[in-house]
Amino acid sequence: MRRRVLIGNWKMHKPAREARAYVNEFLPLIQHISNVDIILAPPFTSLHVVKEAIKDTTIGLASQNMHWNPHGAFTGEISPAMLCDSGCQAAIIGHSERRQLSHEDDNKVNRKVKAAIAHHLTAIMCVGETQKDRDAGKTSDVLSHQLIEGLSGIDTIDTTQLILAYEPIWAIGSGTPATPTQANRVHAELRKLLGTLFPASTTESIRIIYGGSITAENIQPLLAMPHIDGGLVGGACLNPQNFATIVDTADN
Ligand code: PGA
Repeated sequence: MRRRVLIGNWKMHKPAREARAYVNEFLPLIQHISNVDIILAPPFTSLHVVKEAIKDTTIGLASQNMHWNPHGAFTGEISPAMLCDSGCQAAIIGHSERRQLSHEDDNKVNRKVKAAIAHHLTAIMCVGETQKDRDAGKTSDVLSHQLIEGLSGIDTIDTTQLILAYEPIWAIGSGTPATPTQANRVHAELRKLLGTLFPASTTESIRIIYGGSITAENIQPLLAMPHIDGGLVGGACLNPQNFATIVDTADN
């Protein structure tokens, strides 16, 4: 049985003061949660504040990106070691906004995933197709390419090292999530693909989460699907009450 995980991706929201206020409001609301892993992914500049605010809890901390090099002349970049130093246990890698806006290709995603694993950070690797891919019937091809390339050269992996996030680009921020059946079908395909790379026991234990317009109202039927092990939540996580409701639904 895979343990559910809910990740709140704050994107470019919440400077330090707001981040602290968010966690202070969020913590009492999720105190009873016992069956779900919760991870917050604030912007870099709020990592320290959130790290302090969650230090006596089981909430995990993730970055929204990272560079693969340990250090060097990479202006504006943040290394895996810096993230560990800032209290992160995980890093979101290959989010479609980075793939599209910052030209992050599968090769870079692969380097980042490997570097995350080498630094004992859980790689939250995102894959997803555009509306155009979908209309052209290319969803499976695009996803399998992203998955195989993103994990290329990685021979062994375990459940602490990778969370796979299926985030159809057409669903992100659109208000229209994939239907539970659609998402479940894709997750099943992704799990089958993982099975071509890793042993069955690994494949069965890796969590595949869905992201794209999740709300407190639509999360339940998504999570009822056998291959959906949690969610990567953007807009709906920005309000602590909303995110707590989502987490609470997942806990039941
Ligand atoms: P959304 O974003 O929930 O606002 O659609 C999800 C994501 O981009 O991770």
